[in-house]
Amino acid sequence: MSPSHATTGDPASVLDELTGTWRIIHVVARSQAATWRPVLAMGPTSPPSLEVAAPAFCGPREIARLRTFTMARGRQAFLHGRLAAKTAIRAMLGRLDPAARFDPRRVEVDNDLLGRPIVHGAPGLGVSLSHCQGIAAAVAFPLDLPLGLDLERVRPQNVLALSDRIAPEELAMARFAAPPGAHAALPLTLAWCLKEALGKLLGCGLATAPEVLAIASLGPAPNGVAAGYAHAVGYQGLATVSASMILALAAPGDVTLELDLGALTMV
Ligand SMILES: CC(C)(COP(=O)(O)OP(=O)(O)OC[C@H]1O[C@@H](n2cnc3c(N)ncnc32)[C@H](O)[C@@H]1OP(=O)(O)O)[C@@H](O)C(=O)NCCC(=O)NCCS
Repeated sequence: MSPSHATTGDPASVLDELTGTWRIIHVVARSQAATWRPVLAMGPTSPPSLEVAAPAFCGPREIARLRTFTMARGRQAFLHGRLAAKTAIRAMLGRLDPAARFDPRRVEVDNDLLGRPIVHGAPGLGVSLSHCQGIAAAVAFPLDLPLGLDLERVRPQNVLALSDRIAPEELAMARFAAPPGAHAALPLTLAWCLKEALGKLLGCGLATAPEVLAIASLGPAPNGVAAGYAHAVGYQGLATVSASMILALAAPGDVTLELDLGALTMV
């Protein structure tokens, strides 16, 4: 294992060691009544160092869940998601109390029976996360501002599978919103990502009739593409797009989201 894959195993510093190159994005969400400040964390990792470091950043529930994965790929995705979630949660808690010491083993991210993540050890906070072939992202939020997050790579080999799952009218809007000259996979992935982010916010994931997550509008936003949903009318989506990756957030419709998602260029 190279030095860059090693960690000291010290719970106080293991997140820093594993996430040195990550982006931490502070989000501002405003409604007429209140302002919230969720935090998004996103970055790559080295799978071997994750497994070695797991006891230093996972709690007992997470270690028990880790043992249920038979495939290394599943373990690594699970751990990468926990790393992203804890990095985002630590940044949120650190802003509230800069002097507080964060022990990642005491803030655990479990799942309910639908798969939705549940945070233990950080009262009042929730998280939504995505792991995608070497990159993970998570957004931590106060529970009164629920958010859903999805991250997808733009992969030409997905065109066929996604074509079956994106309605023609959604695809037409996504093509219009995509950068000129983009690969055919990009608008499909954009629509998919915005729908999955909504599914995560609603708590159903993709285990619902596709029309529940249908997109009604797509248009330019300051840092990406904004979506309105056909049936989930009280919600909105915001996606940022690079040639190779898309990150989408779904949020309640009556907030204004301010965030600089230019981070996708570094992953
Ligand atoms: C939500 C779902 C789409 C995510 O799948 P994915 O694209 O493979 O994975 P991502 O990396 O983007 O997201 C995974 C994370 O989503 C979260 N998640 C899973 N189910 C969720 C739900 N019902 N609500 C909110 N979040 C959910 C979890 O945090 C999960 O990571 P974890 O298990 O490590 O905690 C998927 O779990 C789902 O809906 N399953 C239902 C079965 C189904 O219909 N699948 C269709 C596949 S085409």
